[in-house]
Amino acid sequence: MTTEDIGVLLHAEHLETLAIANALEVRIMGAEKNRPLGPTASADRTFLGQLVAAIDGAICRHYRFEEETLFPLLQTAGLQDVTAMLTGEHETILTMADELRALAKSAAGAPLDGRQWTRFRETAMDFIHAVMFHIQKEEMGVVRSLSLMLGTAASAELAARYRALQQGCDAAP
Ligand SMILES: [Fe+2]
Ligand SMILES: [Fe+2]
Repeated sequence: MTTEDIGVLLHAEHLETLAIANALEVRIMGAEKNRPLGPTASADRTFLGQLVAAIDGAICRHYRFEEETLFPLLQTAGLQDVTAMLTGEHETILTMADELRALAKSAAGAPLDGRQWTRFRETAMDFIHAVMFHIQKEEMGVVRSLSLMLGTAASAELAARYRALQQGCDAAP
């Protein structure tokens, strides 16, 4: 039987989130930055689906798991200040994610108008920065030392619980 490490699973999702943030940056700052997102281009449709799925995945699983399961364990280990800061960042990021999701859903039905596109680009820029800083902090302050802090057995047990959550979310509509 192979045992997993919860730090490895969270790290993998951080990389997936960074990939989405990178795609978002390319879309709002790259060659097509002046063309609002809309349902006509198939690349936009694919991107909008990926963005909404990533946002919903983070809400459904990653942040909730960190706040409800992981952070309480870190608090027991004396990291109250760190977890309070990270939880505050989750709130900020989720507020921006809500706005991006609403605009993305709107863009899936009809092209965003100029005002909506400006709003999307501004919010996306703030979102990208916030997500990058947040992940950087978690990677340096938490993820690398998780199995050391929790012990191999507890880390593997958390990984198994997280795997179950991932499968539950993937099955959701
Ligand atoms: Fe995280
Ligand atoms: Fe987090």
